[in-house]
Parts: sequence; C-alpha cells; structure tokens
Amino acid sequence: MSPRYIHIQDVAPRDGLQIEPRQIATHEKIELINALSHAGVPKIETTSFVSPRAVPSMADAEAVLTGIDRVPGVEYAALVPNARGAERALACELDELNLVMSASRTHSQANLRMAPEDSLSEFAKIAAVVRDRVPLNVSISTAFGCPFEGRIAAADVFSLLDRIAALGMERVTLCDTTGVANPAQVFSMSQSVRQRWPSLRLTLHFHDTRGMGLANVLAGIAAGVDRFDASLAGLGGCPFAPGASGNVCSEDVVHMLHEMGFTTGIDLAALLRQAQAMPALVSHDVAGQVAKAGPANRRYPLPATDQSSASCNPP
Ligand code: COA
Ligand code: ZN
Repeated sequence: MSPRYIHIQDVAPRDGLQIEPRQIATHEKIELINALSHAGVPKIETTSFVSPRAVPSMADAEAVLTGIDRVPGVEYAALVPNARGAERALACELDELNLVMSASRTHSQANLRMAPEDSLSEFAKIAAVVRDRVPLNVSISTAFGCPFEGRIAAADVFSLLDRIAALGMERVTLCDTTGVANPAQVFSMSQSVRQRWPSLRLTLHFHDTRGMGLANVLAGIAAGVDRFDASLAGLGGCPFAPGASGNVCSEDVVHMLHEMGFTTGIDLAALLRQAQAMPALVSHDVAGQVAKAGPANRRYPLPATDQSSASCNPP
C-alpha cells in the first residue's frame, strides 16, 4: 500500500503576517512565498483582499501577487471577505479564493462587520462575479469555539454547511481561530461532516494557542481528513479575536507526518531553512520546535569525556 498523502497549505504569508507588529515589506513577503513554493509546499495562502483600514499589513496584496514566482504544481490562494475583495482578487491570477465567514455572530461582527447570513449573501454575490473562473473555498472561523461566545454548537456549523452547499460551494475549511478545539471534538466533528457531506472537500485549520494543534491534526487524520492548513514557524492569528496566537507550525506538522510514514511532497530541510530565517524577518522568537531541536533523526557526536570533571569524588 502506498503511503497516505496529506495535503498542507501554508498560510504564513496571510494568517501569519497579518498580525505581525512589524510591517513586513512587499519584497520580503514575495521572498517568503517563493521559498515556500520552492520547498514543494503544494498550496500557499498568499495574502488577503480585505479593507486596508481593517488590516493595513495586507494592503499590498496586488503587488505581492504580481511579484511572486508561479511554480508549476503550486496553487496560490488568497482570502476574500466580500464582493469587493473578489473583484480585486480576480485580477490577480489566483488558483482559489478563500471566502471567509465566522460561525460566531460576535466574532463575525468584530472581524467582518457582518452577521454570518450577510457573509452568505456576500458569497452568492461573489459566485455571480466569479462565474466559475476560479474555485471558491469557504473558511468558517470560530467553528470549534469563539473567544466571545465560548463553545459553538456543531449543529450551528452544520446548518452553515447546508447553506454553503446550497450555494454550490464544495470546498470548506473549519477553522479553530483561537486554539480551543480538542482532539475528541475534532474527531467527532470531522467524522460527522464527512458522513453528512461526503463530496465536500474538507480542510482543517488549527491554531496551537493551547498546545492542542498537532493532536488536532492527528484527530482529523484519524477521522479521514487529508487536508490541513499550517503556518511556517507557527506564525499567525486573527487581529479581531482576543487571545489569538499562531497556527499549528508547518515544519513541525510536516516533520511529524514524515516520521509517521505519511507523505506531503514537501522538502522538510528546505522548509526548516526558511523557518530558521523567520525570527529575523518578524523580529521575535517563533514557536516551531523542530527548527530549534533539529529533526528526530539528528545525531550528535558523543562528547569527549574529561575524566577529572566527570569524577563524582570531591577534589
Ligand atoms: N478591499 C479593499 N477595500 C475594501 C474592501 C476590500 N475587500 N472592502 C471594503 N473596502 C473599503 C471600502 O471601499 C470602504 O472604503 P472607503 O471608506 O475608503 O470608501 C471601506 O473599506 C469600508 O467599506 P465597507 O464595505 O463599509 O466595509 P466595513 O467597514 O463594513 O468592513 C470588511 C467590512 C469585511 C471590508 C472589513 O471588516 C474587513 O476587511 N475585514 C477583514 C478582517 C480580516 O482580514 N481578518 C483576518 C482574517 S480572518
Ligand atoms: Zn487562522
């Protein structure tokens, strides 16, 4: 049996950089996206077409997409909240528009200044504007819990999925925006979604705010999910969700999956080299573990033993 392939989308250029206090220059974003492309990451969320007043750091979306290498086999996606964003994105040769909404009414208002049903109406407008020229994915933020409202009922997410399916959209990402999902919840939710909407292409998006990120990825895999978002160096977070912190870390996810015998098509060594460059880019330490410790197959030379200092006897 061939090893199971797990598809990873790196969201560092969007989810990662949108919350960074230092304004990252356009050319630095382009270099980051190119490094991810050349490391064999199959899909990259490059930027977002949102209001520059809401998220100033994403104001250069067009310039970023004009400047990047288009590596064959790599899909380039961008986040879009409304029809205005879709119109901008259509001019930029994307492989997918990632439409964002929130399951929580309060987070939806804080993040998008819309109710969830307004987002759905906006998506219908987007579908009319896009007319099948670019595939659409819907990301549902706070699908597992909300920093304002607490646990979100699975039934509420399922009713959104019905309405998304009624719009003819067949790609959905369930997002744990502030890292509150636990593996049991992820397993049960993923299993239910796969049973009830078997033709839906489901992706899971985790933040590692409470250390449950990798366990949640494995819970998703156990439930049959094979697509995950992750962010280089564990960067990330929604500026409109209190307590948000980084996504599950791409190189740690890829390392874990390779160690377990899964394939991702990603060159882990190249990903690690780029991860090690991230603290200098963002001007702070980052969360990834493997970039610090080295991969599990790292071998150390045996330290030379110094008899005098190794002695337990007092001098
Ligand atoms: N791209 C660029 N500008 C946009 C835009 C878009 N997609 N959508 C709206 N705008 C502009 C409008 O032209 C208007 O500009 P003006 O004041 O200069 O005329 C201004 O933004 C307000 O437009 P409006 O439609 O009233 O938006 P709003 O203030 O109700 O905000 C959103 C709604 C969705 C545009 C805004 O909340 C947003 O961009 N949120 C994204 C948040 C985000 O990215 N979070 C992290 C990812 S989950
Ligand atoms: Zn996120």
